[in-house]
Amino acid sequence: MSSDEMKKRAAAAALEYVEDDTVIGVGTGSTVNYFIEALSRIKHRIEGAVSSSEVTTQRLKACKIPVLDLNAAGLLPLYVDGADEINRQLQMIKGGGGALTREKIVAAASERFVCIADQSKLVDVLGTFPLPVEVIPMARSYVGRELLKRGGQPVLRENFITDNGNLILDVYNLAILEPSKLEAELNNVAGVVTVGLFARRPADVLLLGMADGVRVLK
Ligand code: 5RP
Repeated sequence: MSSDEMKKRAAAAALEYVEDDTVIGVGTGSTVNYFIEALSRIKHRIEGAVSSSEVTTQRLKACKIPVLDLNAAGLLPLYVDGADEINRQLQMIKGGGGALTREKIVAAASERFVCIADQSKLVDVLGTFPLPVEVIPMARSYVGRELLKRGGQPVLRENFITDNGNLILDVYNLAILEPSKLEAELNNVAGVVTVGLFARRPADVLLLGMADGVRVLK
């Protein structure tokens, strides 16, 4: 079975967590695109969605799912998003699609985070996938030096500007043995907007698409 089919399975399973007449937080990425497809089939049951990126907003609108502003929606009961890597504590590396800042905001404003992924995303230790860090453009070199001091190899993501007008440094070779600690530390570097480590607010549920079904981790 292909990884796309496993993503689709995980995305379909997330519909179980959607409650009637609520606003759903929607992440970004190829797995979430399958979720949006599935959600469009039950759109009459929900009030709408809060989006984590411009690209997701376009897809939601194309499916005629109302897109609401987070400030108007308040606390969301559910956020559904993918991950680039996830460990057994349900801590994640996210931001492969560059939407990490808005994803982290919508996740923080949600009661329950359901992560949907194919089986390849589950890892023992985070860090094989390069850690995305969104930075204010004028701080690019300074933040790069700070990352080098911590043993990482930052690489500027070419031809990419985030939805917030910032840059992404993809950081290779970081030993992420204490994800919460590293998240807090990097969040404190001046010029860093968001670190793609989602450790202090991990997912609550992982729906892992596998060849023989969907595994649920909590
Ligand atoms: C986007 C993300 C995505 O959730 C992550 O990149 C996973 O994407 P995909 O579902 O395409 O594998 O964090 O910023």
